[in-house]
Amino acid sequence: MTIEVRYYSKSGNTKIIADAIAQAVGVTAKQVDDPLDEPVELLFLGGGVYAGGMKRKIKKFLKNITAFQVENIAVFSTSAGDDTIYAPAKEILDDGSTTLLEDVFHAPGEFLKFNKGRPNKEDLGGAAAFALNVIKKLEANKGEAQ
Ligand SMILES: Cc1cc2nc3c(=O)[nH]c(=O)nc-3n(C[C@H](O)[C@H](O)[C@H](O)COP(=O)(O)O)c2cc1C
Repeated sequence: MTIEVRYYSKSGNTKIIADAIAQAVGVTAKQVDDPLDEPVELLFLGGGVYAGGMKRKIKKFLKNITAFQVENIAVFSTSAGDDTIYAPAKEILDDGSTTLLEDVFHAPGEFLKFNKGRPNKEDLGGAAAFALNVIKKLEANKGEAQ
């Protein structure tokens, strides 16, 4: 399965998760400025939550994605609370050409006096498990379709 990891991380919290996911699936996490240069079956896309939404750079990246380039997207985020980038990503991908998977990974991200030390080791383990589970589910679906 062709897999890529892209993220935008202003203060570095989501980068920690992006790297854990990338390591678990055997690729290198890259920033959203780095365009996809070949079609992928699965894109892990991550970002911190800002003012309840996604930073412009992630929006721009998502808007440029075509179904030809990306079959499935699984999002991950860090934030001060429980917010994720799933809803804003869904809004952009609403035409249904690229599948936004319902599996979402979220970890608390250190922000001011909140969530000190997060993401932590357990969060990284959770991120890796999330990524492997997404792949397992997609592989199982492929098997059923054949
Ligand atoms: C200006 C600003 C706005 C933020 N808005 C939210 C928000 O709406 N909801 C939330 O849960 N966290 C919010 N946060 C916290 C960040 O989402 C959190 O620190 C996140 O881990 C940052 O990720 P990054 O370092 O990968 O960019 C905000 C942080 C800043 C600096």
